[in-house]
Amino acid sequence: MQRQAARWRGQGARVGLVPTMGGLHAGHLSLVRRARKLAGAGGKVVVSIYVNPTQFGPGEDFARYPRDLAGDARRCRQAGVDVVFAPEDREMYARGAAGASTWVVEETLSRGMEGASRPGHFRGVATVVAKLFNLVLPDVAVFGAKDYQQAAMVKRMTRDLNFPVKVAVAPTCREPDGLAMSSRNKYLEGDLRRQAVVLWQCIRQARAAVRQSARPVAAAQLKDRLKGLIGQAPAARLDYVEFFDPATLAPVSEAARGTQMALAVFVGKTRLIDNARL
Ligand code: PAJ
Repeated sequence: MQRQAARWRGQGARVGLVPTMGGLHAGHLSLVRRARKLAGAGGKVVVSIYVNPTQFGPGEDFARYPRDLAGDARRCRQAGVDVVFAPEDREMYARGAAGASTWVVEETLSRGMEGASRPGHFRGVATVVAKLFNLVLPDVAVFGAKDYQQAAMVKRMTRDLNFPVKVAVAPTCREPDGLAMSSRNKYLEGDLRRQAVVLWQCIRQARAAVRQSARPVAAAQLKDRLKGLIGQAPAARLDYVEFFDPATLAPVSEAARGTQMALAVFVGKTRLIDNARL
């Protein structure tokens, strides 16, 4: 991969990278289109597909995460991707995930929310993204706003470690009923799929609340209302809902237009996340 990328760059082609864990859906493919645009005429687009063991906690869904390399490769080919980079575990972690001894740890933006609920998760993400940057040597890498905290953390890491990579963030793609597209939606069967729309309902309700109020709305009050809404979906259980500054990710006590919100909800056994600017 490094040799191929170096050859492209030597020929003057810009390289765009879309890192994924596979289970590709229309949201991933929208990132591919953005990467194509940013790589420009004659540019090359690489999609990496790697279910990174070090970002999953014990008891999480690493073993059953959707894996369909043949289908994903077909979708990439149809989308005009130049290379699908799908390394094996032993290539990414020569001594096994447990044997890795060098890590990338971002210590500010990755603290709260996903970082608090999933200890070690962002260490795994930062490390694998740094490795992918070194392997694919991209000029530009595209991430989705669906994982808002991840994108913010990757931008920060890229700056802090001087990676010569431009990080772009593309908007969240949604199903017609508002559910954010996710590889994990494949876990949702029957009525659980219908209940999963509750995350989008929370976003809409929070947006309506700040829009209808002349003054900022107390975040605690808003959280209580959203807990009530989630309580109406029998299979849904709130992990967290947070209102925060979109740049620093620092929690705010009052929400207004421009405040960012994010939430994580279990629907049955499936943990879903979503976020939006109010
Ligand atoms: P994965 O969940 O496969 O997501 C890959 C990229 O697709 C991420 O940047 C994510 O934000 C984006 N994405 C997912 N759903 C989206 C949607 N509905 N709309 C727009 N973009 C969406 O995120 C990861 O993998 C991993 O943590 C990774 C960065 C690859 C590191 O292992």
